Amino acid sequence: MRAILTPKRFLLLAGAACVSLSAAASAEQPEQTPWLNRKLGAEARADALVRAMTMDEKMQIVRTWFPPKAQGMPGAPDDLIPSAGEMLGVPRLGIPTLRESDASLGVANQIEQRKGDTATALPASLATAASFDPEIAYQGGAMIGAEARAKRFNVLLAGGVNLTRDPWGGRDFEYLGEDPLLTGVMGGAHIRGVQSNHIVSTIKHFAFNAQETGRMIVDARLDWAALHESDLLAFKLGIEGGHPGSVMCSYNLVNGDWACQNKTLLTDILRGQWGYKGWVMSDWGAVHSTAKAANAGLDQDSGAELDREDFFRERLKAAVASGEVPKTRFDDMVRNVLTGVIETGLYDDPVPATNQPIDTDAHARVAQKAAEEGIVLLRNAGGMLPLAATAKRILIIGGHADVGVLSGGGSSQVRSTGGVPVEIPLKSGPAASFARTTWHNSSPMRAVQALNPGAHVSYVDGTDTAAAAAAAKAADLVLVFATQWRTEAEDVTTLALPDKQDAMIAAVAAANPHTVVIVESGGPVLMPWLDKVPAVLAAWYPGQRGGEAIANILFGRVNPSGRLPITFPASDRQAPRPQPVGLDAIANDDAASNAGSAGGEAKGFTADYPEGADVGYRWYAKRAQRPLFPFGFGLSYTHFRYANLKVSGGAALTVSFDVTNAGPRSGADVPQLYVTPPTGGAVARLSGFQRIELQPGETRHVTLNAERRTLAAWDEASKGWHLAAGSYRAAIGHDALDLALTGSATLADQRFEP
Ligand code: BGC
Repeated sequence: MRAILTPKRFLLLAGAACVSLSAAASAEQPEQTPWLNRKLGAEARADALVRAMTMDEKMQIVRTWFPPKAQGMPGAPDDLIPSAGEMLGVPRLGIPTLRESDASLGVANQIEQRKGDTATALPASLATAASFDPEIAYQGGAMIGAEARAKRFNVLLAGGVNLTRDPWGGRDFEYLGEDPLLTGVMGGAHIRGVQSNHIVSTIKHFAFNAQETGRMIVDARLDWAALHESDLLAFKLGIEGGHPGSVMCSYNLVNGDWACQNKTLLTDILRGQWGYKGWVMSDWGAVHSTAKAANAGLDQDSGAELDREDFFRERLKAAVASGEVPKTRFDDMVRNVLTGVIETGLYDDPVPATNQPIDTDAHARVAQKAAEEGIVLLRNAGGMLPLAATAKRILIIGGHADVGVLSGGGSSQVRSTGGVPVEIPLKSGPAASFARTTWHNSSPMRAVQALNPGAHVSYVDGTDTAAAAAAAKAADLVLVFATQWRTEAEDVTTLALPDKQDAMIAAVAAANPHTVVIVESGGPVLMPWLDKVPAVLAAWYPGQRGGEAIANILFGRVNPSGRLPITFPASDRQAPRPQPVGLDAIANDDAASNAGSAGGEAKGFTADYPEGADVGYRWYAKRAQRPLFPFGFGLSYTHFRYANLKVSGGAALTVSFDVTNAGPRSGADVPQLYVTPPTGGAVARLSGFQRIELQPGETRHVTLNAERRTLAAWDEASKGWHLAAGSYRAAIGHDALDLALTGSATLADQRFEP
């Protein structure tokens, strides 16, 4: 049979820089070039490539380079792009150079390693999660993937699904909250969106990278059953939903061994129990051995320049030669990478050879919609919001809201379209080498003015409490922008707003009762002034259209519909750990705290997780602690009623009920299904949810099927799930605490595979 030259294949052959003439000729003879045969599965095609490769070519696949280091190496293209890493391709076999970019919130360009290269910045992943809308997650991923492709990146270091076990996590803003079901579903949708562009997305950081403090030396400890029911479940659901080409193993140790050489994680669970076929890449500087890591299941060493030694080059070659790493295992490593590349469509549809135009307006709309769906209305006493556009003197205080909105820091940092109006370099700390505190050019003040053309809108920076209060007295309406910055590589050590903002907000609210607080943060913050302020929005880091999104919510152009994906505790002490573990260990130890060096040299420490699988709201429920705002909470300018619950059991638990928009405006609601298993001490957990839009007075009948893994317990002996027979309590809630309808159903005993 003759191979057909599709237009894309022709492009490839005609010089999209990937296939040489010899491969082009052999495309006519598929029996000799089975890797070109699209009728074969990705694994079989990858296997055929492996058989055709030389040892040196294979060595290229198992290690990526920091681009400048790759200059002039065999297989290196002339146009290396400064970014996170490059795997040098094998042109004669059509294996593309892999160009990797961070991309949690957009195509990253942290410290402007590519001068002038801007991209669309989505809001924080917590905002995306707050939408409870997989479609928003998909659209965000699809947008980022399209920009990446247009910029010639083909592997995105996106898909962060670590659970936010701690409210102070430095990277909480890059993750999707504290619940495995929500995180897994949203993460999977995001990855699917990225990969709809025929490029690879990772899912990261596998696994249990639960804190940033000492992230390279912390040994995170929890029994495997509890891990399966929590952090690992989020990964499993994300992999099922998104089919990522790659999994990134994390910096930390898990139960005594580094994640990137942890055989239980990488081989027994990921490959064995879950049947994952793509490749495991390391986090940057997370490799600590050669044979041990390779034999445990690590396929590719990323950011190897940051490793203590160059583990996956000459040393790996020698280990393969001596048999310390079996040849079959080495071939598996190469095949896994190529399987991910083929499976995602990248091999057959390589990225263009030159940069392509980007529809920045359309992409900005994606960012704005994500922000609008993700902003959470936390308080609205006396129906203060939405604001009528009647105020003559509007005062805006703090947060650089005159020029922009805050962004989180670290590898996810996007230099957004429109520029960076404020940029503050870090003087010290683990993030100093690669993070800066920046604002996106989306001024809330401009957006408020645009919606209130007749008003006088002014700004004070809020650093002088007395001046802010005096200005507030003279205004008709005060909008305070409170900020709390977070970054990768560091946790915040308190949930209190920094820089005396609490005192300023209290003084301003005392001076003017028409005060609204908009919090821009990467996670929960404390609100000692809450009772004194009639209206509060959680805007997260709202991305490059955050100013417009906030203004649209404040003035009722958009009805808020976000729901908290993470509990806001009433005090630091309510959380399972009131502070990051190991702050003392890193205090005087550069090797321990530095994100850019292999922490293996430093003395490690252990973090225990007494909450086990009961992460977030389930911990607070177990302790009977009333948080400031519960998981799933969020107000609207309308209100929703639930009725007519029916719960059915047997083999599966299904609920159906009616949702009515009982208020005066159209809006979106997120009814949430919480189920409590019959087992002793179990607390309710999210087993289903759906975001629905309803017109005033409209009623919709909703059916939700409980995800059965959220009802079951992991049985480590049989390496599978066990759902115990009994009566399961099912509740439909507005949030984790406000359970409007309850019922129950009996389920049959069942065991099932992961
Ligand atoms: C981060 C990863 C990131 C990588 C490459 C690491 O420090 O943990 O999330 O993808 O750097 O920038």
